[in-house]
Amino acid sequence: MIRVFFSLCLMASASAYITTSLVIDEECLNFTVYPVQYELIIKPTIFKNQLFFYDCDMVITVIANAPEVTMIELDAKDLVINETVVYRDHTNIINVNTPFTYDRVNGKLKIYLNEPLRVYKRFNTQYQVRIWFKKIVRYDTPGVFAVRYDDDIEGEKYMILTRLSRNHAKYFFPCFDNNRFEAVFKFKINTIPGERGMQYINSSLVIAEEQRRMNRNNYIFIEYQPSPQVSLNEIGFVYSQFSNASMRARNTNDTIVIWAPGPTMIYYNYILKFGQSIMNLIHEYSTIDRPIMYGPINIVAVPSNLNGYEIGSWNLLTNGYIRLAYVPELTSIRQLEKMTFELTQQLCRIWLGNPGEHPRTTWKEEWFKEGVATYFAYYFLGKYHHNGESYKTGWPYGFYGLEMRHRAMLVDWHHSTPSLINFNRTLAVEIPPRYTELMTMKTASLLWMVENWIGTEKFHAALVKYINKRRGSYISIEDFMINLDKETVECFHQFFNGSTSSRVLDSWIHQSGYPVINVEVFRDRSPNVILLKQRKFMFTKEFRYDTKFLIPISYVIQHNQNCYNCHQPRFTISTSTYSFAENLNGGWIILNRRASGYYRVNYDADTWLLIAKTLQENHLSIDELNRAQIVSDVFALYAAGDLSYELAVEILSYLDKEQSYAVWESAITGFELLKIEYAACDFTKALYEEWQQFMRRNVKAIYDTLVEDLEQQQQRRLFRSNIITFACAVQYEPCLHRVRQLYTQQLGRSVGLDPDSRQACYYTVLSDHSGALMQNLTWFEDEDRQIATNRMREESRLMYRLPPGMKTNANLFLNATTHPSSRPSAPAPQTRLPGSSGTLQTSIVCILVAYLFTTIF
Ligand SMILES: *[C@@H]1O[C@H](CO)[C@@H](O)[C@H](O)[C@H]1NC(C)=O
Ligand SMILES: *[C@@H]1O[C@H](CO)[C@@H](O)[C@H](O)[C@H]1NC(C)=O
Ligand SMILES: *[C@@H]1O[C@H](CO)[C@@H](O)[C@H](O)[C@H]1NC(C)=O
Ligand SMILES: *[C@@H]1O[C@H](CO)[C@@H](O)[C@H](O)[C@H]1NC(C)=O
Ligand SMILES: *[C@@H]1O[C@H](CO)[C@@H](O)[C@H](O)[C@H]1NC(C)=O
Ligand SMILES: *[C@@H]1O[C@H](CO)[C@@H](O)[C@H](O)[C@H]1NC(C)=O
Ligand SMILES: *[C@@H]1O[C@H](CO)[C@@H](O)[C@H](O)[C@H]1NC(C)=O
Ligand SMILES: *[C@@H]1O[C@H](CO)[C@@H](O)[C@H](O)[C@H]1NC(C)=O
Repeated sequence: MIRVFFSLCLMASASAYITTSLVIDEECLNFTVYPVQYELIIKPTIFKNQLFFYDCDMVITVIANAPEVTMIELDAKDLVINETVVYRDHTNIINVNTPFTYDRVNGKLKIYLNEPLRVYKRFNTQYQVRIWFKKIVRYDTPGVFAVRYDDDIEGEKYMILTRLSRNHAKYFFPCFDNNRFEAVFKFKINTIPGERGMQYINSSLVIAEEQRRMNRNNYIFIEYQPSPQVSLNEIGFVYSQFSNASMRARNTNDTIVIWAPGPTMIYYNYILKFGQSIMNLIHEYSTIDRPIMYGPINIVAVPSNLNGYEIGSWNLLTNGYIRLAYVPELTSIRQLEKMTFELTQQLCRIWLGNPGEHPRTTWKEEWFKEGVATYFAYYFLGKYHHNGESYKTGWPYGFYGLEMRHRAMLVDWHHSTPSLINFNRTLAVEIPPRYTELMTMKTASLLWMVENWIGTEKFHAALVKYINKRRGSYISIEDFMINLDKETVECFHQFFNGSTSSRVLDSWIHQSGYPVINVEVFRDRSPNVILLKQRKFMFTKEFRYDTKFLIPISYVIQHNQNCYNCHQPRFTISTSTYSFAENLNGGWIILNRRASGYYRVNYDADTWLLIAKTLQENHLSIDELNRAQIVSDVFALYAAGDLSYELAVEILSYLDKEQSYAVWESAITGFELLKIEYAACDFTKALYEEWQQFMRRNVKAIYDTLVEDLEQQQQRRLFRSNIITFACAVQYEPCLHRVRQLYTQQLGRSVGLDPDSRQACYYTVLSDHSGALMQNLTWFEDEDRQIATNRMREESRLMYRLPPGMKTNANLFLNATTHPSSRPSAPAPQTRLPGSSGTLQTSIVCILVAYLFTTIF
């Protein structure tokens, strides 16, 4: 049977196969020849002398979409083509004189015919293109490659696998290299297990389940069921000697199967159990017992440094084994975090739509699917940690909201960053990797903003209802918005201006970047008048134009009796200036409750000072997430030249009392913002040194607390690890001393380094010895070594780029007691600043932007 997906419209009138009205408004693809089915008989060979190849006999069933075609052009890279034939009803129509030409450089295989192809629409004719070829596989070949590993019991082993994202299928077999073509794949694998000189292979995986298996003359023929219709980046093939372990979900037959070398299987219990919990959470959430996947989800732990899953993989996933194995003495808490996030995100992708479904759920805008999958990944992780082991201290889901927001904002401010709608119908695999964070994190942040605005329960009820309703059909952002509004329209009357969820989302999806809201309080009026002014947030000086984002405004005030909007955060602004009345009674106002809005806020100096005062005196009276937002904003605004050094330091100097993980995360990521190139604050070495000193002083308390605390609960470990890395990065002497000691200890004995301190340790040791490390490392350790090396390089680049800057008064004073080192990353002796940081006299400060509001009132 032929089911052509994207070329539906070309045959809509003629074909009997098209039964449903699936044509919607899919664009017709204009190509002359379409593939319908690929049949591959692969004979892989792995010699122990490291010669790897496969012979393949393949048949592509194609149909023609244009008359007068006498040549079929295929994409094929790095293959050895042996022979080609083309059949029309068992008649070979290949051009005998020149059957084919193969342009190896451009990767084009042209097959010549002695008669033109008949257009499918008129003649219903299919053709079989048969190609014999050989592929030599090496360790570093793109698309399909070999991996060597040590099996603890049997010694050196090899495997072959594919990673076909980014148009690499043409390295695997000749194909029509277009991700919009979908075809059925039939695989047959022929192996000779255990011939002389060859490695014994007993597991081979493709994207379909095994149908039958035959033994003949030492050969094993494995035939797989026909796959559903998939595009090239959704195919996979893994050929190895792995064993497996599996786990099933509670209410459905959903099964995760992990594949890895036999002796290491024990390390995969953690991820298996985790995957099972996430599947259960997804089922609970979706309220229906619909399986995530028909058939098992195979996950292969590849003993190499593969980093992340492929977007398109659905029932055969591959990832580097440090992203799957949990080895307590080697896996750091960050690696554990990354591992759980990646699997959750991938399971959400699969859940939201995969080729194995019948009928299939198709997302018109794949960037949107990516964003929704990421949003759900954080949502389920939050639930997992809340219900699970971390219950004791809680792991507020809001913390993940902050994380997505920070990650999105870091990439979203550049002038050249496109708006989300720009990705339009681009397939997710074809969106450049530099926009991955934007597409996933920004979309997720916007959803989080809307969730906080209309209320979690209402939002999720609408979301899950929509997803269940659209199962097996199309999801588009337009349709999504209409339905979201329908479900949330009951609160229409609460919106000042009739803003709906869709209008809010729409506004943010169509504009690039994000705004900063400048808040000015006119305290001499009664009631006080609060003026909001939005403009594009930029670190650099250019492009700071006024914006008209539709911003849901929520706020809290210090003396919050009689504050209507504090309880009903339901008003939006869409103009670049807006004012409203609220009595502050001499207190502060803080915008962006729970930090859920995708924008930054700057206040007038008086309000900032009031906020700083409260932070100093009773920081717990301000919500944790708001403190986190304030800290993040202060760093960003300082870097952008919108806040003076004195004011920034005045606000942040309460950090020595701060014990919150979320806030310190903001401080750590915020500190990095200072290093942004061309930022308007005119950063210098002298200022950098001052900031480092400032942070050293503030990190002391939390560092001491965490290092002495033996709690091994996950969030605590993560907090500790991040604080240690940060403290060492700002040259906090006790931290440097500690990690140097750890390093020396592990050199002498066979004990490993504490994985959570490893990155800090490598960074420090590398800095001490200007780049000289270490004996042979495991992949777990090597990842941290690479991160440390990169950070060191960035630090040197920063030092190279920053002008020295004038010595400030504070620096002159300090120079009397410190010994500045010529090497940038060398440890500086610990120093204490005199007095309160608020009194620091600096001559180089970022200019406080003055808001010149002419008489608006
Ligand atoms: C396909 O595109 C070519 C030029 O790009 C055009 O000449 C031809 O008419 C198109 N065919 C169809 C079926 O649209
Ligand atoms: C491929 O070519 C080799 C010689 O170059 C020949 O021995 C072999 O039979 C060919 N294989 C097929 C399937 O045509
Ligand atoms: C393959 O063989 C290895 C031993 O070499 C064994 O550990 C593993 O379980 C086998 N895999 C399968 C799928 O039978
Ligand atoms: C896992 O391996 C066993 C042999 O060890 C095999 O019988 C079983 O079919 C494998 N499971 C899957 C899902 O392939
Ligand atoms: C699970 O699989 C078994 C047999 O393969 C089948 O009988 C059962 O109906 C399935 N259950 C669900 C919930 O799909
Ligand atoms: C998105 O693509 C569709 C068709 O591909 C087009 O009609 C639409 O105008 C595009 N939208 C934007 C905002 O570019
Ligand atoms: C409400 O809408 C009016 C006109 O539609 C607009 O002028 C005003 O700025 C809006 N107010 C808010 C808070 O968005
Ligand atoms: C490290 O490498 C040396 C040789 O370079 C080797 O003898 C030693 O066994 C290796 N250690 C580990 C832990 O692999």
